[in-house]
Amino acid sequence: MAGGKTLAVVGAGAMGGQIAYQAALHGYDVRLISRSEDRLRAAVSSCSALLHRRVEKGRLDAGACEAALARVTPGSAFDAVAGAQTIIESVAEDRAVKLEVYVRICEHADDTAIIGTNSSTLPSSLLESAVTHSERFLNIHFFNPALLMALVEVVPGPHTAEDAILRAMDFARAIGKTPVRLAREEYGFIANRILFIAIQEAMRLVQGGYISVEDCDLAMRNALGWPMGPFQLSDLVGLDVVEAILDEGFRQTGDRRWEPVELLRDLVARGRLGNKTGGGFFTT
Ligand code: 3HC
Repeated sequence: MAGGKTLAVVGAGAMGGQIAYQAALHGYDVRLISRSEDRLRAAVSSCSALLHRRVEKGRLDAGACEAALARVTPGSAFDAVAGAQTIIESVAEDRAVKLEVYVRICEHADDTAIIGTNSSTLPSSLLESAVTHSERFLNIHFFNPALLMALVEVVPGPHTAEDAILRAMDFARAIGKTPVRLAREEYGFIANRILFIAIQEAMRLVQGGYISVEDCDLAMRNALGWPMGPFQLSDLVGLDVVEAILDEGFRQTGDRRWEPVELLRDLVARGRLGNKTGGGFFTT
C-alpha cells in the first residue's frame, strides 16, 4: 500500500531499525533500506525480540505484534522509497555518505515526500544541496532507544517550508512520539546541547580524580532522577558517537566546552566503544 501511512527508513543501524518498528507499531507500512544484509538481519531480529518480549509481558497484543512485524519490508534497493510520503535517513554521521544517500533517495522519491534526517550533528542546511526538493527537507531527530524514548526534535533549516514542518510534527505524533519544534538550527538542538555538555562535565570530574564513574552515575540518578547516569548512558549511545558529537560541536561552534576530554579519547582509541563492543566505561 502506498500513500500517507507509508514510511521509508534508510539506514538500519540501532536508530533506523527501531524507528522503522515504532512506525510499524502505529500502522505504517515501512520499507527499511540498508546496503548491508547483516544490518537488516540484525535490525529485524533485535526489534522482533523486543516486541515479542512486550507480548510476553502482556503489554502488546500478539496479533498487533505480528501485524507490526509483517509491515516492515527490509531491502537494499533505493527504489523502495517510491510511494513513501515520509522518508527518514538514518545512515552514518558522515556528510559525504549522507549526500550520496540523498542523491539515491531523490532518484526515486515522490515529489511530495518529506525527507527527514535523523542526524544529531549535521543540520539540514549542511546537507540540503543534495536534496531535490529541499523545501521538504529538515532534521527529524529521534533518541536512543527509539522504541522507548518519546521525544522527537523537529528542526527546520532556512530552506524548509512551513508545510513540511507541520507534516513532520504530525508524523511524529502519528507514530506515538512527542515532537518539539525548534525555531531554527542550533548545534545539538535542545536535548543533546544540554546532555552532552553535562556528560563532558561528568568526564572532567572523573578525569580530575574527584569521583569514580560508578559514584558519578549514582549521584546523577539520585540527585536528578536521571534513568541512567552519564557514563551508563554514554555506553548505550556509543563512545565513538559521543566523541563525534563533541568533536563536531567544537568544530561548528568553536566553544571549548565541546572539546572531547582525554579520558574519552583514550577509550575510543582503544576500541572500547560502549555496549556494542562489550565495554566502554563499564564492561557489559
Ligand atoms: N533498546 C530497546 N529497548 C530497550 C533497550 C534498548 N537499547 N534497553 C532497554 N530496553 C527495554 C527493555 O527491553 C525493557 O523492555 P521490557 O520491559 O519490554 O522488557 C525496558 O526497556 C526497560 O528496560 P530495563 O528495565 O532493563 O531498563 P530501564 O528501566 O533502565 O529502562 C531505558 C531502559 C528506557 C533505556 C532507561 O534506562 C532510559 O530512559 N535511559 C536513558 C536513555 C536516554 O537518555 N536516551 C537518550 C540518549 S541521547 C540520544 O539518543 C541522542 C542521540 O543523538 C545520540
